[in-house]
Amino acid sequence: MAADPETLKYTLPEDRIPRQWYNLAADLPEPPPPPLHPGTGQPIGPDDLAPLFPMALIGQEVSQEREIPIPDPVRDIYRLWRPTPLYRARRLERFLDTPARIYYKYEGVSPAGSHKPNTAVAQAYYNKEAGITRIATETGAGQWGSALAFAGALLGLQVDVYMVRVSFDQKPYRRALMESYGARCVASPSDETAAGRKILAEHPDSTGSLGIAISEAVEMAAKREDTHYALGSVLNHVLLHQTVIGEEAVAQLEQTGDYPDVVVGCTGGGSNFAGIAFPFIGAMRRGGSKVRVVACEPVACPSLTRGTYAYDFGDTGHLTPLVKMHTLGSEFIPPGFHAGGLRYHGMAPLVSHLLNLGLIEAVAYNQVECFKAGVDFARVEGVLPAPEANHAVKGAIDEALKAKQAGEARVILFNLCGHGHFDMQAYADYFAGKLTDHSYAEADLQAALAHLPKVA
Ligand SMILES: Cc1ncc(COP(=O)(O)O)c(C=O)c1O
Repeated sequence: MAADPETLKYTLPEDRIPRQWYNLAADLPEPPPPPLHPGTGQPIGPDDLAPLFPMALIGQEVSQEREIPIPDPVRDIYRLWRPTPLYRARRLERFLDTPARIYYKYEGVSPAGSHKPNTAVAQAYYNKEAGITRIATETGAGQWGSALAFAGALLGLQVDVYMVRVSFDQKPYRRALMESYGARCVASPSDETAAGRKILAEHPDSTGSLGIAISEAVEMAAKREDTHYALGSVLNHVLLHQTVIGEEAVAQLEQTGDYPDVVVGCTGGGSNFAGIAFPFIGAMRRGGSKVRVVACEPVACPSLTRGTYAYDFGDTGHLTPLVKMHTLGSEFIPPGFHAGGLRYHGMAPLVSHLLNLGLIEAVAYNQVECFKAGVDFARVEGVLPAPEANHAVKGAIDEALKAKQAGEARVILFNLCGHGHFDMQAYADYFAGKLTDHSYAEADLQAALAHLPKVA
């Protein structure tokens, strides 16, 4: 059905919230290399993960089923904000004077302001079902911590959030939001854990990193019977839960009569990117239309564009299994730039595998050019994006300008994965000219990679 040619917003009723998550594993030409036990070097089994995750999530982590049913109680909570709108960015198209047709899926309408609740609710639900009463986690930008705090409030779970120090200081209101939902928020590195104390002994002024905060949360979960760990990105089951984004976008694009030539997402650990892109990659693998898929990351933390595809630890304290991913080395601590959610040394194994197979592309942007793109976007489309999302906005704008140069009416879809309402200090710093770009000499990157674990 062709919609009104002036339509800006393509919506779906609540009964069109997907009933299944889409599992890309079913459509891959070859499976990604398995996670390994750091002690034995052998593939890990469910029992290795059982102290941290409920069996239902461990099952999803290794599932090859194409469709995984979404439990009704999870769909009932999704109703609070899903389906999210798909917008046609007509004003941005006019601003860029491009023949491209630009669409964006807006995940900022969730209670926490980003895509993160899509998996937070699912993870909290399965933990609750397994009799767990407390979840420990990390947060970078604060979006994930807020999302899990929200999910914990609705499902009756205590949530402890280790928040990367630099974000903790930059974003006091994110902390207040988590506390409003009843969570406990601790600046990381902290003296609550051995991993945190070790870092503080060596670097008392450490700005922290996602890798350190993960170590702290994993340590707390491993120590306590009543506590599990939840990760906001990277793992297969987290990426799986985010596919509701792309599944809805497929249905919404049917209303427009368009199909994307290019799909764009920002990548920190890879989850919002996977959410928008995997259903389209799956359709292509099953013989559907060809799409280019572009992952946008920061120059200051360039795992896909400058990292090595190797087995590495997911955390700085080396408590996690080894996963094969594009990594900058688990000891790499990125500078405190203003996209806290993208300050992760590694990348989801599934996203890394796709890059290795040539099924996706990756590009890196500096923060100042991303803030400019975000401000341009806000001035024509109204939504002020999260600093992380600005990388996708910049990627979409670049694609639209390339289409203009080629004189082609390409269809561009991107994921506007969160709003920036808690990130105003970053915007204030941008307007004050205080933001700087960070890059690395090859030698510095090689130094961090020198400590990669040896795997036979
Ligand atoms: C708004 C937003 N976008 C993107 C990310 C990056 O995570 P991922 O790559 O898993 O989507 C984060 C992480 O905190 C975030 O808060």
